[in-house]
Parts: sequence; C-alpha cells; structure tokens
Amino acid sequence: MSQSILQLENVESGYGEVQVLWGVSLSVHAHYLTTVVGANGAGKTTTLRAAIGSNKVWAGRVVFEDDDVTALSAHDKARRGLVLVPEGRQLFADMSVEENLEMGAFSPRARTHYRKNLERVFGFFPRLAERRQQKAGTFSGGEQQMLAVGRGLMADPKVLIIDELSLGLSPLLTQQLFATLRELKQAGLTILLVEQNVHLALALSDYAYVLTEGRVGIEGPAHEVAQNPDVRKAYLGM
Ligand SMILES: Nc1ncnc2c1ncn2[C@@H]1O[C@H](COP(=O)(O)OP(=O)(O)OP(=O)(O)O)[C@@H](O)[C@H]1O
Ligand SMILES: [Mg+2]
Repeated sequence: MSQSILQLENVESGYGEVQVLWGVSLSVHAHYLTTVVGANGAGKTTTLRAAIGSNKVWAGRVVFEDDDVTALSAHDKARRGLVLVPEGRQLFADMSVEENLEMGAFSPRARTHYRKNLERVFGFFPRLAERRQQKAGTFSGGEQQMLAVGRGLMADPKVLIIDELSLGLSPLLTQQLFATLRELKQAGLTILLVEQNVHLALALSDYAYVLTEGRVGIEGPAHEVAQNPDVRKAYLGM
C-alpha cells in the first residue's frame, strides 16, 4: 500500500472577498497519478495554487511528508519538492531551452543533481535535446509544453503538479505528452494532474477527484470515477 505524501484538509481559499474553495480535501499517494477534473471555474487551478502556497489558505491545512506546510511560502514548498507546471506554461521566451531548464533547478537539491536530471529530461524529450540552444519563444505549443514539464522535472520534484497538460495542443501531441506522462509514472514519479481531457486523464490515473463549484463532489479509483453516470454524462459525453 502506497503512502500519502501530500494532503489538503478542508482547504478554503479564494481571491479578495470571493471564496472559491469550500473545504477541499484530497490526498496524493507516493508514485500515484492523481487527477483533478471539473468544469471551467470549478477551482482546479486555485486548488493547486493553494497546495503549493501561491494562494493563501484561508482555513484548513496542507500537509506534506507529514509536516504541516500550510504557512510556508511557495518558494519554501518548491525547495521541499512541491513543484508546479503552471497553466499557460510561463516560460522565459527570450531564453534558450537549456537556460529555461536551468531556471527550474533552483533548489540546492536540484543543483546537486543537475547533470543527471538534465540527461533524464533529454531522455524523456529528445526534441528538447535537439534544440537546446533554440529560444523558447520560437517553440510550437507542444514543444513549449514539453519544456514546461522538463523545467518542472529539473526542480527534482517529490510531487510534480501539472495544470492542464494538454491545453491548446492537437490530439496527436496530447497523446504523445500523455505517453510521456505514463513513462514518468512508471519511473516512479508522483504526479498531481489537472486535465480537461477527462477521458485520457482517467484512463491513465490511479485516483481521481471531481471538483464542482469549489467542492469535491465525486472521488475514487479513476476507473470507478470513469464509470460514474454523472461523470460520464458531464465530462465524457455519454
Ligand atoms: N486571480 C484571480 N482573481 C479573482 N478571481 C479569480 C482569480 N483566479 C481565478 N479566479 C476565480 O476563481 C474561480 C475558480 O478559478 P480557477 O482558475 O481555480 O478555476 P479552474 O477550475 O482552474 O478553471 P479552468 O478550467 O477554466 O482553468 C473562478 O470563478 C475564477 O473567476
Ligand atoms: Mg485552471
């Protein structure tokens, strides 16, 4: 039985006066792929941001490796290994592939394993190795997403958190990135994924949460969630 490495416990959060999360609880097990799905505006990104500390947690707790990390800054959490690949990628357009990857390796732990991690990223994404001097801003959407995931891996994450892996990508590129996600999972990485391609995400995930208006509605083993009649109707077009 795998261990839970990250837990959100009754997390409430929002923006200004507006509350978005109303007591979200979720648990990420080591070496599992855990997915959060839900409609636009349900609070998926806010949940991830609350987990990594870039959104303030108004109530509830975030526990990482048995420590209460609720009050830690996003920077401190990233140093501990909670790493987000943000929605919209947020690369440095004027920097080369290799420079962008280097920006990912900011923590002392990541610096120590820099060479090994770089080789690993180039192994998962040969395209990045071929184009290591090219500026990120000239990359296609799919290449940019590879680079964003690669930069996340350079941080030597204990949990890699990915917000919208397939956003804006063609079906073919989406398939390719999901294949790489499967390899990362097989290599033992712990992943927390938010994904709009619910069908693909549930097919690959171990466990899934469905977020509805800032609350966890449905949760369970991904293959069970995929069979849930409400999920099939709302997200799988059945
Ligand atoms: N910076 C912000 N300031 C104010 N409100 C925000 C901000 N970011 C998000 N919100 C609001 O919080 C709610 C949840 O947004 P969130 O981005 O978490 O949803 P989401 O589930 O990730 O949606 P999507 O699928 O469109 O990415 C929305 O109503 C949104 O308008
Ligand atoms: Mg979002």
